[in-house]
Amino acid sequence: MKSVKIGEIVLKNPIALSPMAGISSLPFRIICNEMGAGYSPTELVSARSVRFNGVDKSYRYMRILPEKEGITAIQLFGSEPDDFEAAIDTIMDTPVLKDVSIIDINMGCPVPKVVKTGAGSALMEDPARAAGIVKACKKAVEGLPRKIPVTVKTRTGFNADDKGKPDFAKALADAGCDMICVHGRTRPQMYHGESSAEAIALMREAVRDYDIPFFANGDISDVGTARKIIEQTGCDGIMIGRAARGNPWIFEQISAGLAGKEMPKYPDEQARKQMLIRELEGRLKYLPEDVAVREFRGVMPFYIKGLQGAAKIKVRLVSATCFDEVKEILGIA
Ligand SMILES: Cc1cc2nc3c(=O)[nH]c(=O)nc-3n(C[C@H](O)[C@H](O)[C@H](O)COP(=O)(O)O)c2cc1C
Repeated sequence: MKSVKIGEIVLKNPIALSPMAGISSLPFRIICNEMGAGYSPTELVSARSVRFNGVDKSYRYMRILPEKEGITAIQLFGSEPDDFEAAIDTIMDTPVLKDVSIIDINMGCPVPKVVKTGAGSALMEDPARAAGIVKACKKAVEGLPRKIPVTVKTRTGFNADDKGKPDFAKALADAGCDMICVHGRTRPQMYHGESSAEAIALMREAVRDYDIPFFANGDISDVGTARKIIEQTGCDGIMIGRAARGNPWIFEQISAGLAGKEMPKYPDEQARKQMLIRELEGRLKYLPEDVAVREFRGVMPFYIKGLQGAAKIKVRLVSATCFDEVKEILGIA
């Protein structure tokens, strides 16, 4: 794929990690960067919480490390334009966070707790509010020494019978959004059923005349599915979510495949276990051991998927309580 500009940020490789709560940890994002991902946004963070509680409570989700991550993006969710403006002001007053490359707005989260507050995917039902949020974010980054693009990640609809929201995409672009990423599922689909490339394509077409890149997302798991969604939607870039869990190598694989180059060999058992350990060690740097291991229980099985005896190892990993136990289960000294 060709390199892409989001605002003035140049993505050499427009194949990004899709933001995932509980998955998009700082160490994982660093690893994805090493594997060639164009960038990897943080998981969603409440703009209202940052506005009223400051950064401390959500710092662990927002922490970025530009020198190791490359291009960075913090994803905010909320429903009040003022919350976003204030949250961005706070971020820009915070050491390190102020170096973030991109601010991303979540307009796709289907979780009832979020939707009930008018945030996430609920914003698709209120384009004027969504546009107001984009404008508030643009206002907050105006006049900063660096130009910080504002991007939006959304879905193909709020209702089950929605088949793409072209007018919504246009409203975002009209409001000044610097990039749009669309996951090809509606809110009620959550993460089930098929992701619709046709619905994504409708939204892509709606903003073709705007000078902003468009990313497609949903069910990309290998070079074949990547190629298909690019052909079917005419997108400029792609985001990969679930298939990257425990599989950061997917970025080098798909990048090489799309470029017609020989794909690197898939890592062997030892390399996969070592990568699991590396990600956990990264989490241990900023979390107490019991918390780090407990939170990592849901991620570890993805690293060992398909290995001999994986089912048995998984049962043990998902109840592990400390780092030494994880190493012992994996047979790593
Ligand atoms: C566990 C999990 C957490 C997620 N958290 C977020 C999030 O914080 N922000 C967001 O925009 N999307 C979130 N998503 C959606 C993904 O970014 C992505 O859009 C979706 O999984 C579809 O892409 P995929 O088929 O490649 O997984 C999450 C998905 C999963 C499975």
